[in-house]
Amino acid sequence: MISRRDLLASGAALAVMPLMGSAVAQGPSLVRKAIPSSGEMIPVIGLGTARRYEDVKGEAEMPPLRETLKAFKASGLTVIDSSPTYGTAEAVVGQILEEQKSRQGLFLATKVSIMGREAGINQIEQSFKKLRTDKIDLLAVHNLRDLDVHLKTLRDLKQQGRIRYIGVTTSFDNQYADFEAMMRREQLDFIQIDYALDNRNADERILPLARERGMAVMVNLPFGRGRLFSAVQGKPMPDWAAEFDCKSWAQFFLKYIVSHPSVTCTMPGMARPDYVMDNAGAAQGRMPDAALRKKMEQFIDGL
Ligand SMILES: NC(=O)c1ccc[n+]([C@@H]2O[C@H](COP(=O)([O-])OP(=O)(O)OC[C@H]3O[C@@H](n4cnc5c(N)ncnc54)[C@H](OP(=O)(O)O)[C@@H]3O)[C@@H](O)[C@H]2O)c1
Repeated sequence: MISRRDLLASGAALAVMPLMGSAVAQGPSLVRKAIPSSGEMIPVIGLGTARRYEDVKGEAEMPPLRETLKAFKASGLTVIDSSPTYGTAEAVVGQILEEQKSRQGLFLATKVSIMGREAGINQIEQSFKKLRTDKIDLLAVHNLRDLDVHLKTLRDLKQQGRIRYIGVTTSFDNQYADFEAMMRREQLDFIQIDYALDNRNADERILPLARERGMAVMVNLPFGRGRLFSAVQGKPMPDWAAEFDCKSWAQFFLKYIVSHPSVTCTMPGMARPDYVMDNAGAAQGRMPDAALRKKMEQFIDGL
């Protein structure tokens, strides 16, 4: 007998989606949160393109990425995060979205990551070309790099209607003090920060500040790359995970993140359709409340 997992890993996954009822995240049932600066609602789970989309050498490596982005769109998820520093990622995403005619309705986020005004403008123009779009939903300054210079450029682009939202990212603890000072000083639509069940430093100051300042929060590195999966390898999920409709470790880790009141969405790196369907499940059903979130922290700290 063919298992659901095998089926999902094969190209047959999409064909059977309608038969799977609640196992599949359908658009309207997805949990969404509002971007504070506009009120626009976005699904709490997106897709990150670092690593698996970075070094695509040719056509032979494209089919699983095509299937992943097809499943992503079919699941009703919308937010895709990329960067010009992720090698082939922007170009691969742009090509596939054009082939699948699926740009409309998606929320494309990318970054500027270079020193200098002119170099930044050139890099952003390349992102428009590679992503094959005339509008980028979110453009963020990557890791505070040449922040003041690029924020001016981003504000001009927003004014011109070429980008919709402005943000700044980091994933380094040693940037948190500067990041916090920047958040107090600047008017931003989004911040992007690392936060995970076993990496909770952002919860001390950055996440409460984002709420206070009316900034949407995108969480990067939600699994700490593979770290969280390694921590629970071979361990059964606790029974109480059913209290928040959690069916896999991935959903356990993601629901912890997106149930934080300051967090708007997170974008796990995924390059397989079965990951999309699993992770989309974290945008469905009940979420852990404060007491359950505490229990999740104690669980992971106790391993
Ligand atoms: N400063 C910044 O701006 C910054 C920094 C870092 C990351 N980011 C963004 O954050 C995104 C996420 O970070 P990341 O991709 O490095 O790490 P991550 O999301 O923490 O982990 C990604 C890895 O988790 C595994 N995975 C995903 N879904 C799974 C599932 N359902 N079951 C089991 N394993 C699963 C995959 O491993 P395998 O592929 O190995 O199977 C995947 O490569 C990036 O793609 C990028 O967009 C931004």
